[in-house]
Amino acid sequence: MTEKQKVVLAYSGGLDTCVAVRWIQQTYDMDVVTLTIDMGTHEDLETIRRRALQVGAIKALVVDATDVFVDYFIWPALRAGALYEGAYPLATALGRPLVAKLLVDTARRHGAAAVAHGCTGKGNDQVRFDVGIKTLAPELRIIAPAREWDMTRDEEIEYAARNNIEIDVTRKSPYSTDENLWGRSIECGALEDPWTEPPEDAYAWTVSPGQAPDEPEYVEIEFERGIPTALDGKEMKGPELIQELNRRAGRHGVGRIDHIENRVVGIKSREIYEAPAAVLLHAAHRELESITLTRPAMRFKESVSTAYADVVYDCLLYTSD
Ligand code: ARG
Repeated sequence: MTEKQKVVLAYSGGLDTCVAVRWIQQTYDMDVVTLTIDMGTHEDLETIRRRALQVGAIKALVVDATDVFVDYFIWPALRAGALYEGAYPLATALGRPLVAKLLVDTARRHGAAAVAHGCTGKGNDQVRFDVGIKTLAPELRIIAPAREWDMTRDEEIEYAARNNIEIDVTRKSPYSTDENLWGRSIECGALEDPWTEPPEDAYAWTVSPGQAPDEPEYVEIEFERGIPTALDGKEMKGPELIQELNRRAGRHGVGRIDHIENRVVGIKSREIYEAPAAVLLHAAHRELESITLTRPAMRFKESVSTAYADVVYDCLLYTSD
């Protein structure tokens, strides 16, 4: 008997990727290895791993990529002052190329012929995965079940029931969200109408400014060569510093962003973001530059920041020299 081909699937444990495991087996007759990547939000990875095996993965891998994410993606973006269209600190956009790289590495290590992701055909994320993966590994085939299967969300839930795939209804949300240490992205549902004020339930990391404490809170950040190294006089590693600032700034309603954005695929889209640490650190870094950069250096920096943000947004980090 010939061995089945393998595919490595980027797996979050949500409805789409759970259904994708079974759908790939049925449609492509391939063995599925799942890859779950922690980029600093420390979800219940063991439960996610067990669920992947339950739904039929032959192997379920979990990788903690938090340090790599901070050192190679977040800090360079902060130093570059990279805010897409002057607003979005690019959390999702920075995470995708790292997922692409880990998918490719895992596929090579396990002799897989393909990699797979759970993106639909509407957003930037599919473009980022496709571009990132093809740049690093043109030989790998890419399978994107949610782009191919043509099921509505209700049909997916039915498919899951028919195939005995347990789904976690507590994770069901009226929005499409993505999160990592650098921020949380919220889109779809009621948010698509820019006239609608985002309902409070769209937010998870920040309080409404009206609920924030009356007393202001001060933070003192130390930078070395553009990288934050200490908070309130205490040296801290990047991930802890960002986590701490997400908590403290989020409590004061800092970090909510409401932005109509030009997507890679040519459409405009209303996006909500929560990025307390990113907003705070970009502001602090800008202030530092205001006292250290000359006028020509500042003007140059502004143009480079915009260019860098576009490169990140379009997932061209692996191709731009
Ligand atoms: N518009 C943002 C971006 O392109 C956020 C994407 C969020 N992804 C998601 N699946 N909800 O980076």
